[in-house]
Amino acid sequence: MECVDFFLEITATIGFICVCKAVIKFLKWVWMMFLRPPKQLKEYGSWAMITGSTDGIGKAMAFELASKGLNLLLVGRNPQKVEATSNEIREKHGVEIKFVVIDMQKVDGKEITKRVEEAIDGLDVGLLVNGAGLAYPYAKFFHEVDKELMDGIIKVNLEGLTWITKAVVPTMIKKKKGAIVNIGSGSTVVLPSYPLVSLYAATKAYLAMFSRCINLEYKDQGIDIQIQVPLYVSTKMSKMKRSIFVPSSETYSKACLRWIGYEKMVVPYLLHSLQGFLLRAIPEPSLDSYMLNYFLQSRKRGLLKDSKVLRIKNKGNCSPSCK
Ligand SMILES: NC(=O)c1ccc[n+]([C@@H]2O[C@H](COP(=O)([O-])OP(=O)(O)OC[C@H]3O[C@@H](n4cnc5c(N)ncnc54)[C@H](OP(=O)(O)O)[C@@H]3O)[C@@H](O)[C@H]2O)c1
Repeated sequence: MECVDFFLEITATIGFICVCKAVIKFLKWVWMMFLRPPKQLKEYGSWAMITGSTDGIGKAMAFELASKGLNLLLVGRNPQKVEATSNEIREKHGVEIKFVVIDMQKVDGKEITKRVEEAIDGLDVGLLVNGAGLAYPYAKFFHEVDKELMDGIIKVNLEGLTWITKAVVPTMIKKKKGAIVNIGSGSTVVLPSYPLVSLYAATKAYLAMFSRCINLEYKDQGIDIQIQVPLYVSTKMSKMKRSIFVPSSETYSKACLRWIGYEKMVVPYLLHSLQGFLLRAIPEPSLDSYMLNYFLQSRKRGLLKDSKVLRIKNKGNCSPSCK
């Protein structure tokens, strides 16, 4: 009998500790998501540098940062597009804007660093947002990914970002302050696997580890490095329509700003955070099999679309005699 009582007591104590831990975790999340004041980003420096600033999340973040009075150094691959974005932001928010043209797929790493070092020379750059990214047009088996796309994904998502960070960190070390935001992906943080989008997900896994490690390396030097993890956001990359779980890039970027300078890995958007919580509760084999089927369907749709485009092209190239 005594033994049973002891067992019940131990079980109740363990249960109580688990509940307390869950409650504390939940309260901490509520504090971070809704109540904690955002950092004064201008205190890091008066300029923010943003890659991927010409579209999607990067562009929306550029507008949001300009609305807080930060001057911007925009990085883009297309000179016309980056100039147009600069003009749009300048007109709307009246901040100073400079831009630098870098196609991360075409320019080699050392040249990227050189161009960035030249561009930031003399500017008080306090914040770097690494927003540029490249993904598959649709899900594919790894052997189907053409070499140019493969080269692009590795160069933009992995190499470009690394070389750009390398160029900016020394100036932050000198000032003993700065913040870096890397845009990661739920494909590697929330989900156990991302089949048929493997290469993209793998570059984001690199980014997650890179960000967590350099966060620790530079924390004591006043530099706050963070990976922010979006799930789906409605942009040209995701090709998804806005819905409850898929915010516009503008809505998403507002959430992003609140988290800059805090934890090393964050899911800034409330409904993504809830989605992540629910997804983590599903057993891994079920989630793996669901993701595989989901992307097999997506591949089928993509192939169908490609074949339609090819048919239309061939029709256009066909002489009257072959019709
Ligand atoms: N949207 C989502 O659902 C989602 C989900 C998870 C993670 N993410 C991540 O969030 C980040 C932003 O994605 P997004 O959805 O905003 O994509 P997006 O709308 O396609 O924008 C991507 C940006 O990267 C730039 N870029 C692409 N290739 C480049 C290159 N070779 N050199 C320089 N810049 C280049 C693009 O320039 P152009 O304007 O010239 O094309 C554009 O400004 C990416 O890192 C992505 O992996 C997005």
